[in-house]
Amino acid sequence: MARSLLHYLCGTKEGYATCQTLCMGIMVIISLHGIIKFEQIREHGDFSSLNIPDDANFPPLGLSRLENFPTTGQDKVPKIIHQTWKSTEVPQIFIPWVKSWYKQNPDWEYWFWTDASARQLIEERYPSFIPIYDGYTEPIRRADAMRYFILYEFGGVYADLDIENIKSLNPIIKKYSCFFGQEPYVHSILDSSLEHLVINALIGCRKGHPFMKKLINNLADFSFMWNVLDSTGPQFVTYWFRQYQKQFNYPETHANGTYLSPPEYFFPTIDTTKFFWFRSVCGNYPVLNEKKKQACVHLKKTSVLPPNLDMSFTNHHWIHTYVFMFRLPLKGPVDIHYIVPKVKLYNSQD
Ligand SMILES: *[C@@H]1O[C@H](CO)[C@@H](O)[C@H](O)[C@H]1NC(C)=O
Repeated sequence: MARSLLHYLCGTKEGYATCQTLCMGIMVIISLHGIIKFEQIREHGDFSSLNIPDDANFPPLGLSRLENFPTTGQDKVPKIIHQTWKSTEVPQIFIPWVKSWYKQNPDWEYWFWTDASARQLIEERYPSFIPIYDGYTEPIRRADAMRYFILYEFGGVYADLDIENIKSLNPIIKKYSCFFGQEPYVHSILDSSLEHLVINALIGCRKGHPFMKKLINNLADFSFMWNVLDSTGPQFVTYWFRQYQKQFNYPETHANGTYLSPPEYFFPTIDTTKFFWFRSVCGNYPVLNEKKKQACVHLKKTSVLPPNLDMSFTNHHWIHTYVFMFRLPLKGPVDIHYIVPKVKLYNSQD
């Protein structure tokens, strides 16, 4: 039947063009199917086909229960959310997540910083840093650096725009004076040599905390580093986090202490763009060390399940800058005043 149809279509002069179109159409459908399949694997990270023994017996990675938080007592971090973007025009993709912060924390202030207002703060209070700040070749270095100044000067909780708040932060600010999020277990285990990688995408810290001061003081020396992560980002923070803990050994709940929260608190979701890489690492399962084996078994068991958010204060949506290039121009940005009516913008006259 299909054969005679093709013969009929392609066999005659008039039918030839139709036949070509049809064949092209079929090819397009087949390639689309391939792309969708590829995306599905990429997104859902199907690890079931990997050569990982089903009886591999490792304890599950992660927390089994939430720590205790005080319900009374003084707040150790001021109730201010800080978010930043290059201007007050926020890309649509972030809007629901931005709203989540003031919805979950109605008793908090919400401050929004732009490239201009953050630079103004640094110029007023750290004029000697301005040549380095302006000299950063990538904007992401300024975005990294500005959060340390903002938190040192005002205190509060800084969060990247792709972080969604899912429950009030009030318990955690009653316990810790300076807390950080941590990369998901499998990221640190399979993707880096450090078992605990501090993330700078979410930081809660009191005003004037000596650890923030330490970060600020070391920005200049590290500004020449070629790699953004080492110069101002997570590796920079991770390095100084360890130095600081070694040097002072403050208890985590001390006014000068620092606390690295478990990944469940702020970064419960694995970055799906890493799945391809993880598949290739776990493909060599037999030769991996025990920790990596444990991570691969964990992925095989959990990668297709939705993340468990029971212990999470926030969820991170892993929006990478390359996503912007393709998606952002499709939807117009919205001014932050329409998203968060009570927003405060920094103005030195206030
Ligand atoms: C906290 O650190 C600062 C600066 O290093 C120091 O002056 C202060 O005494 C410390 N506070 C406590 C309670 O140890």
